[in-house]
Amino acid sequence: MMQGRRLAGVAVGAGLALAVGLAANANAQASYEIEPRAPQFIYDRTCGYCHGHNVGPIILGRQLPAAVVASIVRSGNGAMPAFRPTEITNTELQALSEWIQASPSDTTEHGE
Ligand code: HEC
Repeated sequence: MMQGRRLAGVAVGAGLALAVGLAANANAQASYEIEPRAPQFIYDRTCGYCHGHNVGPIILGRQLPAAVVASIVRSGNGAMPAFRPTEITNTELQALSEWIQASPSDTTEHGE
């Protein structure tokens, strides 16, 4: 008798722990946010293999207005693909566009 009760208690305890674990997990997912990636990081990996490498025009050191840069990134431009918010978030795009506008020219880049 005593033993049966104890076992049942353990089983209920385990069930509760599992339920709490699942709830905590769902919560963590709902509030999940990615850290914005730094402008230089995005530029090097996403923009820089065309821009400054003879595929796209040089865009650093030209004081291109941030609003223009952001709009081109979202809508694309001829041979340049558009980038969606799932690829570059709004927060990242804002920082990237301001970074490009403020950037000095990079002498290691080439192209027009
Ligand atoms: C696949 C190559 C490619 C990638 C990747 C790319 N671009 Fe472009 N981009 C181009 C080309 C080509 C043009 C010129 C299009 C035209 O004028 O027909 C262009 C044009 C632009 C312009 C206008 C420049 C001007 O002088 O008018 C801006 C600003 C720009 N891109 C920003 C970006 C940014 C920021 C990224 C990264 C998020 C990026 N591009 C990624 C190929 C690319």
